[in-house]
Amino acid sequence: NSNTPELLKNVLVTGGAGYIGSHVIYTLLRTHKYKVISIDNYHNSFPAALTRVSSLALSELKESSPEPSAQDIDSTVIDVHECDLINPTAVRSIFSSYASKGGIWGVIHIAAYKAVGESSEIPLTYYANNVAATISLLQIMQEFHCTRLIYSSSATVYGVPPDIPIKEETRREGDSVYGRTKVMCELIIEDFCDSIMNDGETNPFQAISLRYFNPAGAHPSGYIGEHPRGRPENLLPLLAHMAVGTVTDPVLKVFGNDYPTADGTCVRDYLHILDLAAGHVIALQALEEGSELNAKVFAGSTSSNGKFKAYNLGKGHGMSVMQIVDAMRKATGHDYKTEVIGRRRGDVPELIADPALARAELGFDAPRDLETMCRDLWNWQVKNPTGYE
Ligand code: WQD
Repeated sequence: NSNTPELLKNVLVTGGAGYIGSHVIYTLLRTHKYKVISIDNYHNSFPAALTRVSSLALSELKESSPEPSAQDIDSTVIDVHECDLINPTAVRSIFSSYASKGGIWGVIHIAAYKAVGESSEIPLTYYANNVAATISLLQIMQEFHCTRLIYSSSATVYGVPPDIPIKEETRREGDSVYGRTKVMCELIIEDFCDSIMNDGETNPFQAISLRYFNPAGAHPSGYIGEHPRGRPENLLPLLAHMAVGTVTDPVLKVFGNDYPTADGTCVRDYLHILDLAAGHVIALQALEEGSELNAKVFAGSTSSNGKFKAYNLGKGHGMSVMQIVDAMRKATGHDYKTEVIGRRRGDVPELIADPALARAELGFDAPRDLETMCRDLWNWQVKNPTGYE
């Protein structure tokens, strides 16, 4: 009858315990439409993140509906697998364990190494972990007739973009090993969508590539947040650790102020991690064959067989390094000292999204402002100075 709830769709998230993965999983759990499966090798993340995500979703569920259904409660339980994506046997056994439970409906592939600087030092590790693992995942998805993929891509696929703000049809050109791994994976996924292997499938393979600009912030509860292993490389988490004292550098080293920007430092398009996560849920809904959203997203799809579409996830305005330092000075009360040193290899002057396509076709928006990002980041860091440990 009408009020029997739809069965939960099994959705696999690779890199589920990471900063992006944990916030994406939190947002998936709160829809109560999915049974979320996490694969992570904890190379740059902590299993505790998933325990917190699940208990946060359960407590919010109980707040919002005092008598939650058994299925809604079950949808806040994550199936957690410690597994290396480059191990096809392990990944295959996970897929087969769901074959009798309706199979894996879709995959959100987030797991990757992402340090631009490091990637030029150990390129083979990056190509193995980011590219070879993606090929292996696609092969296994094909074996198990899993035909829906959301790929975690990055604005770095644009290299030094010819125009700002950046539209999705801009040519791709990775300017670092890391950036090239993202370009290669998009091309591999596109070619797979176009391959004849999709013929005869009840559902042709459909992929949406989400090109993240700079995600920042944390869930406002401060219960989950960003906790990379070792020293944080990215600007905002580094500033948060400096303010809370877990990084004792006396100054923030600014990697160059001789860029062609207003104050000479690099400009990036920062968006709140929960807005980014919400974009993944919309993209997942767009993979539902027969839905209006699916028809709109893939209407212009050129490929003859499967379908591929890329979207920028950004706010459409940029902030310079110095503006970020100012925003964190206000949020944390910490009086940062800065020292300008040489440029960092692989950095580009400006990356600002043209957010029009995702807004028009997915109805995606990133309303949370920089002050909110800094406040939520600081709230997480103050409550968890040493992260999940
Ligand atoms: C931001 C700006 C630095 C640290 C990277 C990846 C991207 C995505 C997000 C994965 C830059 C400057 C930084 C410091 C500094 N990751 N900076 N001193 O490089 O824009 O993007 O992380 O998806 O793919 O490339 O982010 O936070 O590292 O740097 O001056 O100590 O801050 O030069 O201009 P980035 P970031």
